[in-house]
Amino acid sequence: MTMTSKTLQADFDHTLSQLSELERSKFADATVLVTGCGGFLGYYFMRFFQAKARELGLKKVIGLDNFMLGLPGWVKDLSEDSLFDIQKFDIIKDDIREVSGAEDATFVIHMASIASPMFYRQYPIETLDANVWGLRSLLDFYSGRQIRGFLFFSSSELYGNPDSAHVPTDEEYYGYVCTVGPRSCYDESKRFGETMCMLFAQKYAMPIGIARPFNNYGPGMRINDKRVVADFALAVKEGRDIEILSNGSPTRTFCYIADSVAGYLKILLHGEFGYYNIGIENPEISVRQLAEIYAAAGREMSGYKGKVVFAVSEDKAYLTNNPQRRCPCIAKARRELGYNPTISVEQGVRRYLAFLSESNEREYLW
Ligand SMILES: NC(=O)c1ccc[n+]([C@@H]2O[C@H](COP(=O)([O-])OP(=O)(O)OC[C@H]3O[C@@H](n4cnc5c(N)ncnc54)[C@H](O)[C@@H]3O)[C@@H](O)[C@H]2O)c1
Repeated sequence: MTMTSKTLQADFDHTLSQLSELERSKFADATVLVTGCGGFLGYYFMRFFQAKARELGLKKVIGLDNFMLGLPGWVKDLSEDSLFDIQKFDIIKDDIREVSGAEDATFVIHMASIASPMFYRQYPIETLDANVWGLRSLLDFYSGRQIRGFLFFSSSELYGNPDSAHVPTDEEYYGYVCTVGPRSCYDESKRFGETMCMLFAQKYAMPIGIARPFNNYGPGMRINDKRVVADFALAVKEGRDIEILSNGSPTRTFCYIADSVAGYLKILLHGEFGYYNIGIENPEISVRQLAEIYAAAGREMSGYKGKVVFAVSEDKAYLTNNPQRRCPCIAKARRELGYNPTISVEQGVRRYLAFLSESNEREYLW
């Protein structure tokens, strides 16, 4: 039985409040097919759909994942809910035609692809294949069908390491990306995936939207996922010092999941080809500042006594091609979709830590 923490419930209310009446009405009687449903964003989407199914009038959610990093306890819990049909499925080699109900999908959300650099470097070819062949098989399957929205998860990493004239980065910046580095399997496959989306949208008039997420964090992250936002939370939870594995100077903006998922849903429901940055414009802070925000939140919320320290990663490629700055311009999503993130990083970190202390381990550790 899945319990929803108070914080998560408030997050879902926030996400729903960001959708217009017209946007909500598009979910009436819809079947949504979600690939990569067992990951961080998958958690939030699936739990959001569960919490708001009745209000939205959703008919069915089909969740597909190969669970290559383990089968989360919360996925087992969701399987008991008749709204969901969750299947172990590898988007690279399994056949979508054999997924019962896939042909009836109204909306498709393609997220399958490992997002954490520490893990995608262990599975570089699988990462590439999920974004290229996995996407291709979905596009082929849905090109002759009447779907109302298809959302491909690209990444802000397709911008590579922009020079300062292109930070904040808007959607028309072409990117400065290494084709043969340790991150190329991810960055380049997202770029190629976008090209495929554009071509299928043109040829088959498919309503394909592309999201370029900028550093999301919050409920749903596997706490041992090794992305800084999870890593810092784990240190606070365990009362250990927060270790920074760089010199702490790279800067990012951090977008809380309750805001970003509203942006993703808006792209999905938009019903036309488009590509959008989804994140938050400010503050652009260093990894060190983020660590201090976690430490301060921990002190205030649970008497955390640790400090922020520097360490060296055992993974030698950890920092290779790591962009120095990452900050989005989100004017296009604001203008065309009405996207409007409001949760500050201080609030978001507190909400995330509150979620972790209110929830069962099945929700964040597997
Ligand atoms: N979280 C972010 O800040 C962020 C930033 C940029 C882009 N993205 C993109 O958004 C999507 C979701 O991100 P996330 O943070 O939830 O990632 P995640 O790594 O937490 O989850 C990805 C999920 O995809 C599944 N998967 C991987 N390969 C698969 C395959 N071949 N077949 C079926 N399932 C497979 C994994 O088992 C996992 O459950 C990804 O495409 C990612 O690249 C996320």
